Amino acid sequence: MPTVSPCAMVIFGASGDLAKLKLIPAMYELAIEGLLSENFALVGYARTEMSDDAFRKICSESIAKSARTAKKMGVDEQKLAWLLDRIFYQTGNYDNSADFDKLKERLAAFDVSHKTEGNRLFYLSTPPSAFEPISTCLGEQGLVERVQSGAVRHEGAWQRVIIEKPFGHDLKSALELNQLLTQSFHETQIYRIDHYLGKETVQNLMVMRFANSIFEPIWNYKYIDSVQITVAEAVSADDRAGYYDKSGALRDMVQNHIFQLMALVAMEPPAALDARSIRDEKVKVYKSVRQLRSSRVDEFVVRGQYDAGEVKGKPTPGYLKAKGVEPGSTTETFVALKLYIDSWRWSGTPFYIRTGKCMPAKVSEVIVRFRSPPQTLFQKQCDSPVYPNDLVIKVAPEEGISMHLNGKVPGGTMNIKSVEMNFNYATTFGKEAPEAYERLIFDAISGDQTLFIRGDEAEAAWEVIDVILEGWKQSTRKPELYAPGTWGPKKAMDLIERDGRRWAGLGSDGEPIIACSI
Ligand code: BG6
Repeated sequence: MPTVSPCAMVIFGASGDLAKLKLIPAMYELAIEGLLSENFALVGYARTEMSDDAFRKICSESIAKSARTAKKMGVDEQKLAWLLDRIFYQTGNYDNSADFDKLKERLAAFDVSHKTEGNRLFYLSTPPSAFEPISTCLGEQGLVERVQSGAVRHEGAWQRVIIEKPFGHDLKSALELNQLLTQSFHETQIYRIDHYLGKETVQNLMVMRFANSIFEPIWNYKYIDSVQITVAEAVSADDRAGYYDKSGALRDMVQNHIFQLMALVAMEPPAALDARSIRDEKVKVYKSVRQLRSSRVDEFVVRGQYDAGEVKGKPTPGYLKAKGVEPGSTTETFVALKLYIDSWRWSGTPFYIRTGKCMPAKVSEVIVRFRSPPQTLFQKQCDSPVYPNDLVIKVAPEEGISMHLNGKVPGGTMNIKSVEMNFNYATTFGKEAPEAYERLIFDAISGDQTLFIRGDEAEAAWEVIDVILEGWKQSTRKPELYAPGTWGPKKAMDLIERDGRRWAGLGSDGEPIIACSI
């Protein structure tokens, strides 16, 4: 069992959805696993007036409703009581120094009553507009002691901040945000969360690549034909349309989650398994992405928006009808792009990416497509095609890895079928993977930044995205409409098919497509 540091955690925006759906349930799971110190206290902080007890009631309800193990096996009352004993609430504004003074006094009191030793974890679960006042107040009211630059390790009490995406909405705002944050915190105190990095399969990508010797020799342009990354969601943008309309699929999913997946697939082996070495390698990937010219963006990027239609026989309104969407909005609910990583390893290997709302299924996966054998020996003797090999890294809904190989169908004739060698987390390990937030909050308390985004990493990713945004701004072309419940506009198919390839994964009927080449 790892030793966990005592600490007081403050969740700003504690009355919001993220806290209820993810953060509080994650704290409960950590308590169940024994991954919180005895000397722990949690303060929910928000503008809503509420007593400690009222907040505890909300926490118990959200645990019963949303905590992973509670949903399956019921609530462990003893662990819940243990956690609730350590939960408090404070009403306060995000820009009021007097409120932060009160918070400071309260945290100091926990150092005595709960022996939290001056260690603080501030979780900014708020809209980005609150990042500035909160981090300024934390700095000015002395709740945070900024680590001096050059200090490798901060001795004694620590203070850290977790922030949720979006980390800016373009390169300029990302630079401003980083500048703002680094006034109150040193980079080693900032934990930019991307929940995809907390997903077990995503972490396993590194283990698969660097703990097995079979992949490294073939993990390059000589053996890999192309890489596809699909992150499709069946849900519409309705629930958060106000936010989504200002963001769109490129900012909401590609700049962060999908680029993280791409970086983990494409990066060089790090010198060590520490935060700095791994993040250095990821930055190199973004810096090697071939710069698109904004005037040629439409050749490499397709944006779509779902129209009105029918999904499984149910009429579905188009994106423009969602509450909070500007009339005539050109925000994309789907994006497909083709990128090249100009490095020795990936020279000429295309990375195809697509993501969208209102797709036929929720599926997140990376498909590494290997080149076909140099001679099509079997093709002459059998009717069935010989498929290229695919390594499929499944992130959701199933978590696991599978390898598609060609196998002979038993019998007198030479018939070949694509068969799947499957590794599934739940069946192999007999337990389901923890939720991303459990792992990430635990890492932040432990001071491990490996699975968090470094400031320059976010900036380098924005550099790639900015060109696309600029191209869209210059273009008179609107997003292509697509019917809800489909895999996006036809142009997304054309993007890959004109290279003689097809999107792998599921077909429009939800059935897997195995033969991905055309
Ligand atoms: C969030 C996006 O970051 O990730 C959402 O803002 C999206 O729009 C979500 O639905 C997807 O996460 P997951 O874990 O369900 O794939």
